[in-house]
Amino acid sequence: MSEKTSFDFSTLSERQKYKLLIGAVVPRPIALVTTVDPEGRINAAPFSFFNCLSAEPAILALGVENHDDLAFKDTARNIRMTGVFTVNIVSDGILKAMNVCAVPFGPGIDEVREAGLTAIAGAKVAAPRIGESPAAFECRQHVTLEIGASRQIILGEVLAAHVNAALVNDRFHIDPYGLDAIGRMGGHGYARTRDYFDLPTMSVAEWENAKRAARAQQDPPLKCIQSR
Ligand SMILES: Cc1cc2nc3c(=O)[nH]c(=O)nc-3n(C[C@H](O)[C@H](O)[C@H](O)COP(=O)(O)O)c2cc1C
Repeated sequence: MSEKTSFDFSTLSERQKYKLLIGAVVPRPIALVTTVDPEGRINAAPFSFFNCLSAEPAILALGVENHDDLAFKDTARNIRMTGVFTVNIVSDGILKAMNVCAVPFGPGIDEVREAGLTAIAGAKVAAPRIGESPAAFECRQHVTLEIGASRQIILGEVLAAHVNAALVNDRFHIDPYGLDAIGRMGGHGYARTRDYFDLPTMSVAEWENAKRAARAQQDPPLKCIQSR
């Protein structure tokens, strides 16, 4: 076992906690979140404090930090005002466009257009989805948790999903290679997900068999030892 460096979080600065968390909790999926303001103006921004937390109800979570002056980011403000958002999965094909959407444009700038992406009207919500994203989830705000003056966790219930037809089969399995999702690492790092493998969870009986097989390999039967 490797020697550890330990950290007492009660003694760390916000920045230090952030660096430890984003450096070790990896790869994080990236939601390119599309919203609209009450006038219907489109906004898009990436969030990697993001994950799927429940299937029934189907809940996606976003962690949104406020600006330094505590003002809401456009995404958080739009969700407060309209109660809806759409999560667009970031594939390698839209990585550069995603990065354009992270530019700190002022409110009212349509990042989808700036990035050369295509906004497609939502089926269930006012927020559009991004046509170039391989999978999009239309969400209705379920609850927003205020976890301090400068942050909120927004839980959204998924009302509809749109997945590239070639990537999903009739058993609802999604082709991970075709999805080609990008993960966020620490700092400005990213990871691709095509180094993919299956590892089914074992039953207790399968685990006992695996242990027996491993033991048999390590300890040769007595017969073999005697014959030496
Ligand atoms: C890959 C990536 C992931 C990000 N994740 C988050 C995040 O989880 N929470 C957050 O508040 N900002 C995050 N950001 C920064 C926002 O995308 C950025 O502040 C953006 O300008 C917000 O736009 P908005 O004001 O239009 O909502 C991330 C940026 C990048 C490039």
